[in-house]
Amino acid sequence: MAQATFRIWRNTPGEAGGFVDYPTEVSEGMVVLDAVHQIQADQAPDLACRWNCKAGKCGSCSAEINGRPRLMCMSRLNTLDLTQPVTVEPMWNFRVKQGIQRFQPKPREADGTWRMSQRDADRVQEFRKCIECYLCQDVCHVLRDHDKHEAFIGPRFFTYTAALEMHPLDAGDRLRDLKDEQGIGYCNITKCCTNVCPEHIQITDNAIIPLKERVVDRFYDPVTRLLRMFR
Ligand code: SF4
Ligand code: F3S
Ligand code: FES
Repeated sequence: MAQATFRIWRNTPGEAGGFVDYPTEVSEGMVVLDAVHQIQADQAPDLACRWNCKAGKCGSCSAEINGRPRLMCMSRLNTLDLTQPVTVEPMWNFRVKQGIQRFQPKPREADGTWRMSQRDADRVQEFRKCIECYLCQDVCHVLRDHDKHEAFIGPRFFTYTAALEMHPLDAGDRLRDLKDEQGIGYCNITKCCTNVCPEHIQITDNAIIPLKERVVDRFYDPVTRLLRMFR
């Protein structure tokens, strides 16, 4: 057993939040989530903490630990410097999803069925692995450093949009929103989002770049623009 201090962000609605230090006993094999539960049990019963699977699969326990987006249940204490307080704070997140056009099914075939090829179905399968941990949102510099929260929906929501746009049975059209409202042009392909994704989704290569290509083809390609004018 050893002593470690967890510097946890506390917030009361209507008040400015702040960090509070909680010293607690820790032992080998513990993860940050265990320590937070121990602090809840012994010292701070009103400390809110989201978790579910404790196996790195549900994404519920995402947090910033020592300033980096991580899953609390997958962050072993022996990977952290316990001579210093370990900071734990919530992820920034927002209600962007509400503004993304929902799935719009294509009309059925004449026989009343919908059909799609396995190849097309496989293409969007990767995006379904997203556990909505929002680690990618937290690390993206467009949000984090440039504070474009109002103008840029971020990598998680580009992945969500890509799953819809590339769905073989979807009839929606989200390209103008991506360009005008959702700021896809701000992404400069740094791939920090892909690097932190615990589900190893190729966010940049498979979601963002294809969406950017579609936006460029639609709005900036002179031949396509000319054809659209005549249609
Ligand atoms: Fe998390 Fe990856 Fe989904 Fe982003 S894309 S929310 S990092 S699982
Ligand atoms: Fe941000 Fe990912 Fe683009 S980190 S800049 S959304 S490649
Ligand atoms: Fe499910 Fe951590 S509790 S990912």
